[in-house]
Amino acid sequence: MSAKLLVTGGAGYIGAQLVHDLLVAGYQVVVVDDFSTGHPEALYRVHALTGRQSEVFRGDISDGRLLSRALAGVDAVLHLAAYKMVGESMVEPERYFRNNLGGMAQLLESMHVAGVSRIVYSSSAAVYGSQADPQRPIDEDAPLRPENPYGFTKAQGEQMLEWMAWCRQWSAISLRYFNPVGAHPSGRIGQPQDGAASLVPRALQAILKEDARLQVFGTDYATPDGTGLRDYIHVVDLSRAHLAALGALLDTPVSRGHQIFNVGTGRPHSVREVLAACQRATGIRVPCDEAPRRPGDVACAVADPTRLRRELGFEATLGLDAMVTSAWEWCRGNPTGYGPIEPRAPRPLPLGRGSLPPSAAPTTQGRIK
Ligand code: UD1
Repeated sequence: MSAKLLVTGGAGYIGAQLVHDLLVAGYQVVVVDDFSTGHPEALYRVHALTGRQSEVFRGDISDGRLLSRALAGVDAVLHLAAYKMVGESMVEPERYFRNNLGGMAQLLESMHVAGVSRIVYSSSAAVYGSQADPQRPIDEDAPLRPENPYGFTKAQGEQMLEWMAWCRQWSAISLRYFNPVGAHPSGRIGQPQDGAASLVPRALQAILKEDARLQVFGTDYATPDGTGLRDYIHVVDLSRAHLAALGALLDTPVSRGHQIFNVGTGRPHSVREVLAACQRATGIRVPCDEAPRRPGDVACAVADPTRLRRELGFEATLGLDAMVTSAWEWCRGNPTGYGPIEPRAPRPLPLGRGSLPPSAAPTTQGRIK
């Protein structure tokens, strides 16, 4: 019998790709998502692409009763549900504390009650903030200096897992994502456009929309071409890293404690290099203007991915061109992301025990657990 997994935030950008890959790998998958930023449509498409169903619970991770039902029979949790907009977190920090920390505390308590003691946690390179030597690849022992409430909540989440591993002998793995880019090769699952503030979606939108132009934030950094350097990782590789982490947790009967891994390629790319890749993928030059530095940006944030390779045998395989090409396929085929979505009749898909809402728009109706 294959392991049963709970994926929180399974309808989000990374979550949907992950649910897809877990279903393909033969796992039984339960999803909890409140559809505040994730989309039911993403899961409809995952189910259609894989020919398999996840069991879907619509609701909040701070709802202990919902979690206790979702956790029944679960062997491990992949916890991705969180608010993740750096800028927004500066404006509404308390919302981030409530969801990312309060919600996670509830999840951990519900896991404890349900006897589930294995967890893969979606953390972020945002925990590092600015490092003393910005040119150096960042390893996991670098000091944590989050510079926004979002990064702070991710660092605190890791600390909670540290204590759960210590006090309750849990096995936990925190994955510090660098800059996820790209989409499923089908072009059917990808990053919703709503609020996508990151470089590649913005650059591609600037190509697609007549009135949009990309601003290049900062051309005077101490980098080879003056623009910021980042470690972009294909969402398909990022999802694979979760499967590697999960495999390690499920393979070990005793507690592994809490381990932390960077998930990046270790290869820096400048904003100008990303724009050149966008031009190669689309055949169109990205309309852009040079602009002042964006407050809070660092010159360079690149992972040292050695630990992930050494301890979990994981290596990212897909390069910048593959990332941008797949992002373009997604963007061109879904110019408004998964929405706006017109209300429509339920899909004729068997929906498992928990089901998706009847329309792709989040509603309060429908057969949901
Ligand atoms: C940051 C966070 C990351 C978070 C992401 C969400 C850190 C280290 N990383 O990523 O965890 O998930 O925000 O927003 O805190 N750029 C432009 N024009 C644009 C957009 C971006 O020039 O319109 C440049 C930025 O200045 C930067 C690079 O592109 O040099 C990447 O920016 P972005 O995609 O927003 O990601 P980060 O800021 O690295």
